[in-house]
Amino acid sequence: MLFDLDLIKSVYEKMPDRVSKARKNVGKALTLSEKILYSHLSIEEKGTTFQRGADYVNFAPDRVAMQDATAQMALLQFMNAGKSKVAVPSTVHCDHLIQAFAGADKDLEDAKLQNNEVYNFLQTVSNKYGIGFWKPGAGIIHQVVLENYAFPGGMMIGTDSHTVNAGGLGMVAIGVGGADAVDVMAGMPWELKMPKLIGVKLTGKLSGWVSPKDIILKVAGILTVKGGTGAIVEYFGEGADALSCTGKGTICNMGAEIGATTSIFAYDQNMSNYLRHTGREQVADLADVVIADLRSDNEVYQNPEAYYDQLIEINLSELKPYINGPFTPDLAHEIGDFAKAVKENNYPQTLEVGLIGSCTNSSYEDLSRAASLAKQAKEKNLKVKAEFVVTPGSELVRYTTERDGILKEFEDIGGVIMANACGPCIGQWKRHTDDPDRKNSIITSFNRNFAKRNDGNPNTHGFVASPELVTAMAIAGDMCFNPMTDTLVNEDGVEVRLEEPSGLEFPPNGFDMKDSGYISPNSDDQKVVVEVKNDSERLQLLYPFKEWDGQDFKNLNLLIKAKGKCTTDHISMAGPWLRYRGHLDNISNNMLIGAVNFFNEETNSIFNPIADNYSEVPATARALKAEGIGTLVVGDENYGEGSSREHAAMEPRHLGVQVVIVRSFARIHETNLKKQGVLALTFSDKGDYEKIQEKDKIDVIGLTDFAPEKPLKLRIHHEDGTSDEILANHTYNQAQIEWFKAGSALNLIRKQNN
Ligand code: F3S
Repeated sequence: MLFDLDLIKSVYEKMPDRVSKARKNVGKALTLSEKILYSHLSIEEKGTTFQRGADYVNFAPDRVAMQDATAQMALLQFMNAGKSKVAVPSTVHCDHLIQAFAGADKDLEDAKLQNNEVYNFLQTVSNKYGIGFWKPGAGIIHQVVLENYAFPGGMMIGTDSHTVNAGGLGMVAIGVGGADAVDVMAGMPWELKMPKLIGVKLTGKLSGWVSPKDIILKVAGILTVKGGTGAIVEYFGEGADALSCTGKGTICNMGAEIGATTSIFAYDQNMSNYLRHTGREQVADLADVVIADLRSDNEVYQNPEAYYDQLIEINLSELKPYINGPFTPDLAHEIGDFAKAVKENNYPQTLEVGLIGSCTNSSYEDLSRAASLAKQAKEKNLKVKAEFVVTPGSELVRYTTERDGILKEFEDIGGVIMANACGPCIGQWKRHTDDPDRKNSIITSFNRNFAKRNDGNPNTHGFVASPELVTAMAIAGDMCFNPMTDTLVNEDGVEVRLEEPSGLEFPPNGFDMKDSGYISPNSDDQKVVVEVKNDSERLQLLYPFKEWDGQDFKNLNLLIKAKGKCTTDHISMAGPWLRYRGHLDNISNNMLIGAVNFFNEETNSIFNPIADNYSEVPATARALKAEGIGTLVVGDENYGEGSSREHAAMEPRHLGVQVVIVRSFARIHETNLKKQGVLALTFSDKGDYEKIQEKDKIDVIGLTDFAPEKPLKLRIHHEDGTSDEILANHTYNQAQIEWFKAGSALNLIRKQNN
């Protein structure tokens, strides 16, 4: 048994009382999300209610999951937290670093060789601190979580944006950065702004070519990539209850594509069935007892307008299959209109590759329905026109679908089965092509289709659809093919039609596998030694950042005044830099290299006062740091938007940046800066941004008296001998001021643990 039954029992024991108190405090019926959130408050405060979209709340999540690319920095930080074990059940999943090329076995062997050092590190740290470890090849984090750990009414965080997938099993599951994972693993509260709620009422019933994927593709078209920001999307109605649990997972998974905090379905018979088929009868039995708390109150279902901030209704009986893209998942086309869109927009009409699987769509149901089309192609003597690639989501699904002949159906039409890993979904795809730059179309059952996402080629037009539709399109090799209305000509010159796909929710002979790929942690942590070589280029142990010296900052040099948009990608680029995610010094060589210098409008070219020339940002920061000179970064609006990666805050801290002052912050980045001990300030008067000149030296005054809601002062000394004094606001509360004083939140955690 991999799940923690005692933990689940304790959540369910406390839930009825906590929900009823919350209902009383809020003064009205509760939605499912509210029930879960209020029963996971880190401290139960009498009479507390929180305003959605406004109040910050401290939560106590039940679990943490980490994928191998983000786990490295999360665990390097955790090693400095002064804890001997994680405070909540946590797991690491090796899925992102395996490149898809020749097929599962060969690719897996290659990945083990290339990433040996990283895998060893992750396994050893997991072992030492009581973290479950899923070996490379065991499966994709979100599928493995759904199969083993997710439970209705639970709350988890994960260091990957598609952690939200577990909403398919009724869990509030949220994607976060590594520093947040460290907090939870160290037993600290985890802060989140009370989310708003978007209700999606599903009426009617899916049939024929339409699948759960089409629901979220339609929702993405309605809400767009930003429409879910700061909100939980809650699905309900008879149409919701009729969906399979894994279908619900697909819908929640792609909630990340509309920016939602998470998405969720209420506990029902299909979830119960899924728990029972995946060896968790005990969890289902426990959930059955508290089912009333694992669904919204009846009043909510009867009068949803009164409880949700926004309400959408979709009739599944009228829903058609969708194809979304290219380049953005919210460009939704109903299948009947798609051929016209291809012609009008000049999308490449030849389909070169169809790809199914990933964490989004590789359930038994998905693969068996797709295989029914592959079987038809074979029986109807159709030659499959496009390449066809399958990435199973887990060993449980791979083994079972192989045993049941499903994978063979794909192989019989030329499909290649890749490792149980992210592969092409995260750009880990060494694509076979005669021209890597050709404008071309691919279609996947994955979730993201931004330019370059799958194969690094900006000319690849990526479209997203259900696995069934991807398979049908791959057979046709034509982006204008509509399997609902069009015929294909087979090898005998006969016109044939693909019948509607059919499949099974569960394997008739049950799920099975030989080796799950799971390694449970060693109980005797004293003997476990974590190895990180001194000359490693991929891993580096972290040193604690220096405590504040108790003095105001004097004579900080302006490092860069960033102009316009400066996202976490501008601050810490991804792509080839992924390789250094576990090595702070090496990855710091990408610090702010994408930010535009206000004074020369160039990227990665700033005034270097030591060399008296224009140099790269990281080199300049290193030169100043070597001289013991602290630096300050100036930014524009919404500085640090994008991902929650903490590298964007750790790198400046490592290279000597002491203050970041901006017109406004993206909230997560602001918190990340605070956590890493960088002073995060905003201009009290946004116009003061203009006062900062290239060779300024800046003092920060008032730190000795640093207090919540009390602005600080900046004295700016210009090169010509004049100076300005401006006010700088901050959002530090008392606890966060202590992070600053200690040098970082982690330093404080360590102090408290010693
Ligand atoms: Fe992996 Fe793609 Fe899912 S990167 S976790 S398969 S979104």
